[in-house]
Amino acid sequence: MKLFLDTAEIEEIRTVHSWGVLDGVTTNPTLFSKIKGMTYDVVLQEICGITKGPVSAEVVAEDVDGMLSEGRHFAKLADNIVVKVPMSETGLQAINRFRAEGIKTNCTLIFTANQGLLAAKAGASLLSPFVGRVDDINEDGMAVIRELSEIIRFFDYDSEVLTASVRHPRHVTEAALNGSHIATLPFKVFGQMVHHPLTDKGIVQFRKDWDTARAAMEQSSGGKVKEAAS
Ligand code: E4P
Repeated sequence: MKLFLDTAEIEEIRTVHSWGVLDGVTTNPTLFSKIKGMTYDVVLQEICGITKGPVSAEVVAEDVDGMLSEGRHFAKLADNIVVKVPMSETGLQAINRFRAEGIKTNCTLIFTANQGLLAAKAGASLLSPFVGRVDDINEDGMAVIRELSEIIRFFDYDSEVLTASVRHPRHVTEAALNGSHIATLPFKVFGQMVHHPLTDKGIVQFRKDWDTARAAMEQSSGGKVKEAAS
């Protein structure tokens, strides 16, 4: 399963990239609004300089020509840009036109398997159902992931399901178990996946026991013990 970072914060992207687990990045206008002092183009170019994986850049125009013009502009910024287009009638039309031009798209704001099916048929490379926002209205976000992933595999569509609006680490596990090709995670969720109280406690205890054992050896050998670890 591929893991993307859902952020426009450059330092967060550098950090997760340095762990060797980053497969791509998704941005949106809300995430960009948190960045100060850089244009969207510059942010996207910086991100594309860190990861070679797909980097989603979202259009805000509501008409097809506007979407095409914004998307073509983003696509020229770097080879790994994927144009993010909201699910709508005009969005589907733009996705189809982008596919004809060889520009990859990520269809965003998907809330049902049927919307995902339409986006796949129109030619979107990535399909982004928003699990957290579905859960927020007391419905089952993961059911959308399960249904859409099954449909995509059953008919062998050339699209990948990207679980978006992830709120906690359990969403990631469930997305993987339900066949999602990708999940995009806030930085905080990546950190939560790394840590477990027993892991953190175990690291402290192993270090303590190591130091105790070493001190005892040194004492009994009169300081002649040499070890790789300090
Ligand atoms: C990513 O592509 C989406 O824009 C993002 O995951 C939405 O997350 P939110 O529901 O937390 O805003």
